[in-house]
Amino acid sequence: MSPKHSSLPKVAPMTTFNMYMAAATQTKNLHLSNPRDVASLRTAAIASCGVTMAYQNGQQSYQVLKDIDLTVQKGDVQLLMGPSGSGKTTLLSILAGLLTPTSGRVCLLGQEITKMSRHQLAKFRLQNIGFIFQGFNLFPALTAAENIEVALNMKGIKGKAAKHEAQVLLEQVGLAPQAKLHPRDLSGGQKQRVAIARALSGNPRIVMADEPTAALDSHSGHTVIELLRRLAKEGGCTVLMVTHDPRIVSSADRVVYLEDGSIQENKQLSDNFL
Ligand SMILES: Nc1ncnc2c1ncn2[C@@H]1O[C@H](COP(=O)(O)OP(=O)(O)OP(=O)(O)O)[C@@H](O)[C@H]1O
Ligand SMILES: [Mg+2]
Repeated sequence: MSPKHSSLPKVAPMTTFNMYMAAATQTKNLHLSNPRDVASLRTAAIASCGVTMAYQNGQQSYQVLKDIDLTVQKGDVQLLMGPSGSGKTTLLSILAGLLTPTSGRVCLLGQEITKMSRHQLAKFRLQNIGFIFQGFNLFPALTAAENIEVALNMKGIKGKAAKHEAQVLLEQVGLAPQAKLHPRDLSGGQKQRVAIARALSGNPRIVMADEPTAALDSHSGHTVIELLRRLAKEGGCTVLMVTHDPRIVSSADRVVYLEDGSIQENKQLSDNFL
């Protein structure tokens, strides 16, 4: 377990997942989902069926993901949690169409991305998905604002409109004063917020985020989660987020817990928004 978890209460018979859940403030009416619901491949915002991922290491095959069935309903904020190395980033990358699974199907917004050509997939991703990478992936030669403007340009928003939109997005993540700074002059948390603003550019219908609050202090982390939750609840966006942070659980609709490449728990937190 990473040092981030060391402050969690040590209650002997609890699973790691239950420790996360116990740390959440509102965990009423828990009930299991039905991950084998094949119809959900068409109706859910994000759905996978029988996804596996194996890496070849010489003669040996290493199974990173095993038969993953997962659905995320439109407008939900869903968390993907689990220990380091359990396959969270691999799964998120497959669900976003950044990695091709060894087997299985992935549908986003009712369209099967695992059947798309590279060109179709690139276009679909640009139009519909905002992705926040674990390592930020900012262009070092561009300022914070320019990093966002480039993403907007690729989505067809150019010139003054792109500059204005970049400024609005930076304000939303509390970084307006740093608009003209390059990544090397930003702190880790500030870089993460630029990456978040860039992912939100062009109003994607799905946002996938790999530990978006890992480099943030608790206040900035809360601001970012509130922003993502508002996007989901008011903007109809769907958010799937990898996190180790138990404080985020109270802002989610559902939590999926991955261990050793398999889904161990899949629970709805239905009262969070009442
Ligand atoms: N390209 C690759 N080739 C071989 N093995 C890989 C590759 N990418 C990932 N893995 C392995 O797959 C497993 C899952 O990795 P992944 O990055 O998905 O874990 P994670 O749950 O995101 O971990 P963390 O919480 O530390 O970010 C790890 O054992 C990793 O070494
Ligand atoms: Mg990871």
